[in-house]
Amino acid sequence: MQANDAIAPEAHWWLPVAAVGELATDRPLGVTLLGQPLALWHDGAEARAFTDRCPHRGARLSLGRVHDGQLECPYHGWRFGADGRCRHVPALPDFVPPTGHRAVAWALREAHGLWWVAAAGAPAEAPHAPPLLSDLPSRRLLCGPYDVATSAPRVVENFLDTAHFGLVHEGWLGARDHLQVPGYEVIADAHGRPGVPDYRAWQPQGSAAAAGGAWVDYRYQLLSPYTALLTKKGVGDAPQEAYALWTCPTEPEACRVWFTIFTSDDALPDGDLLAFQDTIFRQDRPVLESQRPRRLPVSGGELHCAADRLSAAYRRWLQGQRITFGVC
Ligand code: FES
Ligand SMILES: [Fe+2]
Repeated sequence: MQANDAIAPEAHWWLPVAAVGELATDRPLGVTLLGQPLALWHDGAEARAFTDRCPHRGARLSLGRVHDGQLECPYHGWRFGADGRCRHVPALPDFVPPTGHRAVAWALREAHGLWWVAAAGAPAEAPHAPPLLSDLPSRRLLCGPYDVATSAPRVVENFLDTAHFGLVHEGWLGARDHLQVPGYEVIADAHGRPGVPDYRAWQPQGSAAAAGGAWVDYRYQLLSPYTALLTKKGVGDAPQEAYALWTCPTEPEACRVWFTIFTSDDALPDGDLLAFQDTIFRQDRPVLESQRPRRLPVSGGELHCAADRLSAAYRRWLQGQRITFGVC
């Protein structure tokens, strides 16, 4: 865990690092968050996250194994308990390690089928918990992961950008004869995060269930520096379908991405819903990975037009939050 004065602004959020199903109970899993390698492992009762570095000689704990509810380092076999404390040194079986012999433990929890880490290390330093999203449809499918060679903020901005629909997603989310972006209003939520409560788009195939072209009403919300939500409204503005974008900023110019599809449709097979989202993101990906710089410019260097006001508001918000990871 970092000392308080060393905590970067982005570390005040809990951030997703892996799908729940990726973590086996009998072996650790190496992940990276904000440039920090972490070892996730399961002590038999709960999942844990440690800094992926053994305090003995710096080997990666994620290359080790789980033994009797403890994490064993691959190099000299030191074993660490759930709280990080070293419990056993095989070269000195009678030695009782002092309390200072410990791996660094991070707070970890589950939400939306993902493991989330308090990026500052401890919950007290990361007040922004994973979003609840309890008012969305209860059928939920996780899509991903995608390891993307660009910054997490580039991916978030793309998710908030509608002016590319008729080009990148031609015949799906947009059409070349409907490229005009209608007027829309950017409104900050109660936390000051920019969003668009009402956005109307013409979409030839706006979802896996769509039976042809239609005008669709959306709501865009920013959830954190690296996560966002798109809600498709149904009757009386009730959420009919929603897509959450979860990015894990692994490195300043790389990220891991998942989507959760929330839908009230109970007829379409899971495979059709996942294939739709997969198709859309595979259309986005080559353009995203072509953008330079890979870090999102928040203080100038790119041109804006009025259709970009949501992404411009996102950049201003990142700048106001003093976010540094993945931006330039
Ligand atoms: S480096 Fe981990 S036990 Fe030696
Ligand atoms: Fe897109």
